[in-house]
Amino acid sequence: MSSETAARHPDRALIIDFGSQVTQLIARRLRESGVYCEIHPFNAVNADVLADYAPKAVILSGGPASVGDHDSPRAPQEVFELRVPVLGICYGQMCMVAQLGGSAESDDHREFGRAFVKLSERSDLFDGIANAGEEEEVWMSHGDRVTALPPGFHVQGASPGAPFAVLADTTRKFYGLMFHPEVVHTPNGSKMLSNFVHKIAGLKGDWTMAAYREEAIAKIQEQVGDGKVICGLSGGVDSAVAAVLIHEAIGDQLTCVFVDHGLMRQGEAEQVVGLFRDHYNIPLIHADASDLFLGELAGVTDPETKRKTIGKLFIDVFEEKAKEIGGAGFLAQGTLYPDVIESVSFTGGPSVTIKSHHNVGGLPERMNMDLVEPLRELFKDEVRALGRELGLPEAFVGRHPFPGPGLAIRCPGEITQEKLDILRKADAIYLDEIRNAGLYDDIWQAFAVLLPVKTVGVMGDGRTYDHVCALRAVTSVDGMTADYFPYPHEFLGRVATRIINEVKGVNRVVYDITSKPPGTIEWE
Ligand code: XMP
Repeated sequence: MSSETAARHPDRALIIDFGSQVTQLIARRLRESGVYCEIHPFNAVNADVLADYAPKAVILSGGPASVGDHDSPRAPQEVFELRVPVLGICYGQMCMVAQLGGSAESDDHREFGRAFVKLSERSDLFDGIANAGEEEEVWMSHGDRVTALPPGFHVQGASPGAPFAVLADTTRKFYGLMFHPEVVHTPNGSKMLSNFVHKIAGLKGDWTMAAYREEAIAKIQEQVGDGKVICGLSGGVDSAVAAVLIHEAIGDQLTCVFVDHGLMRQGEAEQVVGLFRDHYNIPLIHADASDLFLGELAGVTDPETKRKTIGKLFIDVFEEKAKEIGGAGFLAQGTLYPDVIESVSFTGGPSVTIKSHHNVGGLPERMNMDLVEPLRELFKDEVRALGRELGLPEAFVGRHPFPGPGLAIRCPGEITQEKLDILRKADAIYLDEIRNAGLYDDIWQAFAVLLPVKTVGVMGDGRTYDHVCALRAVTSVDGMTADYFPYPHEFLGRVATRIINEVKGVNRVVYDITSKPPGTIEWE
């Protein structure tokens, strides 16, 4: 429990996680409404933690368990003795009912998807949304049902499949919802959560990026003192925002290291150096290590070997450069809140490694450095907001994510300089067309992939035998799941024509329409 963090946000809410797939969305919605909140797994919250964190509102998330199951999880009973408003969502509602003297059981009639809740009376949760007698669209996903209400509770709204869709004990300010207000499919769900924290719990909502910037700067200064910090820049948003923030806090005690592995996109290395060294005047070491990386990667075709080779070399070069500046006591990283949240897993056991993600994770122990992670409390969209607050150019702040191993994992099979050059050109044309069409911000991530397959074509009067270029574009919230982007056909035709006409070495273009799962976003 980061009570120190919490102390800086007196108007704070607590989300107790029972393992729902969408718990993080509750936090995002609260933060969007200006309320600081943290997610903690149900089994890590006890009376001491509650006393320490002292939330002014508590939300119990949904979860995959059934209250009737032996050993199904419960909230610490003290939650209901804090004298603060509590909102139970789906499984959280069942828990609250069961723990406060009512009863709930699993139901054969599971209900998923769109439903309409009719309010039988006015509800503070629905303030400005629906009045008594009116219907409101919501998203259901539940398998339990309430069979007896706890003392003090009554029904405020029902749907055909959920007679206890909205419950309230208005005296104690305890509320329960059978549906998920946090998902976008409940159109007024954000407003319901905002009503809960602002109208019902009375939180002010003073979580703003301007306030966060001030606090973060003070915290960095306190942690680092007159020590030295190094920060690896990847060209991505997170490390860029972390670097600018830290520089604002401690000036030239910060040195950035940009390890150029030769696997960047067109113009990317120049952009990073230009922004940090020239625009921000931040001390920057530009380590051009492309020969080293491409040399070690020669002949490597296995995706995991590629990733591990790049990860290891990255750390070697980074360490060498850090030594050149006489070492540093601190390593800055752009770790985000989703990486920090210990979500509850009901599957148990370690999860399968799909891909070895490349980061500088091994460095702090190897070099005996402490971590400075000023973005640990933020979601990605908040990092972007902070970047804007710090005046970073929109071209940087709004960027699609780019993986640490760079183009190496977009070039299945052996990587050669020639293939990378072809890929860079095709990728630049693709992104250029996306921007021209005004689609860049509608897409989570878009890129070209150069396939290790050659096909026969005809150009002019001649035969060609060249590479296939695959285009990928996905929509996603967090990169964990994704869907392909539904481009208009003429857009795809235009991009294909430009790539084939302008990039020597490509004679065929295909569009990847795989979602994640079963695919992944990158091809390797
Ligand atoms: P996948 O391909 O696993 O990618 O669906 C999910 C998201 O993560 C990015 N990605 C990486 N980011 N280091 C990174 O910093 C990596 O090794 C790495 N591999 C994948 C990917 O671009 C997508 O946004």
